[in-house]
Amino acid sequence: MTRHEFVRQLIPGLTAAPGTCGTGSAPVNIALAKYWGKRDSELNLPRNSSLSVALPSLGTRTRVILIDGPQDRVTLNGQPAPEGFTRRLSAWLDLFRPAGAAFEVETENSVPTAAGLASSASGFAALARALDDLFDWQLDARTLSMLARIGSGSASRSLFDGFAVWHRGERDDGLDSWAEPLPQRWPALRIGLVEVDVTQKPVGSTAGMTRTVDTCPLYDAWPDFAERCVRDLTAAIEARDMEKLGEIAEHNALTMHATMIATRPPVLYWIPESVAAMQRVWALRQAGTGVWFTMDAGPNLKLLFEADARPAVVAAFPDLRIIAPFAP
Ligand code: PMV
Repeated sequence: MTRHEFVRQLIPGLTAAPGTCGTGSAPVNIALAKYWGKRDSELNLPRNSSLSVALPSLGTRTRVILIDGPQDRVTLNGQPAPEGFTRRLSAWLDLFRPAGAAFEVETENSVPTAAGLASSASGFAALARALDDLFDWQLDARTLSMLARIGSGSASRSLFDGFAVWHRGERDDGLDSWAEPLPQRWPALRIGLVEVDVTQKPVGSTAGMTRTVDTCPLYDAWPDFAERCVRDLTAAIEARDMEKLGEIAEHNALTMHATMIATRPPVLYWIPESVAAMQRVWALRQAGTGVWFTMDAGPNLKLLFEADARPAVVAAFPDLRIIAPFAP
């Protein structure tokens, strides 16, 4: 099945008058059990389930207007968007384009683009919501999650606040691969962003995944391990067990990075400052502070801790940007 056919069976239609406008917003999310590897790149189906937490204060707000063609016009934070950004958006918008029409897209992002802080996740989730508004589809969150998934896998999880699980699904048609929220809240949980480098990453996640699946001899162990991490993390969240959550998330991230590094040519997202930050986290833990880290396809770390550890964590990371995912 093509992604066009996939999308057409999910949406009621593409009828709207030129000038019709839709808006949508969505938070970024940080995976605690990562998605790494596709089993179908056309439908963006993952080889493993993943689990994330949303950062409600960071994300994307998007406004889409249907215009007469021939070309989409895209702005990012008030400026014409970079060419690669527009190309990727337009390719996804092609799936929803009425004949002869184009889209004007105004995107406000409060996260640095493509720095491993998952701006594509909030971006495609917000855009899916904006199209739902524009075409007045009134789709449920599960369906929007599947539409966003086509744009970027991790976007499937950005339709929700709090914890979310993206189920890998079993079917070839991709209709059982969507994300849903977990009911638990964790008011004391904190995420600290250690931004060691916010420039563009050298290898995008799709290229990195393809290369890993194709050439990494360790990759065979990943899907089962990742699935187990999702189960164990769900139990840690139910028990509100910080040590268990931190241990699983950090081990999961390092295992993913081990598969990246063991790929040919290697995919190494770390820079010396990333390693220094990891060592600082381990030293803090050694000294009795409950802090762990996770990392995505980039050099930055995300620290995981509870509110009572904040003074010790900030003493070691004075520039830390701290987010409370469950703030009222
Ligand atoms: O959604 P993508 O294609 O950008 O891939 C995301 C990959 C990771 O951020 C490394 C892991 C994840 O689950 O978010």
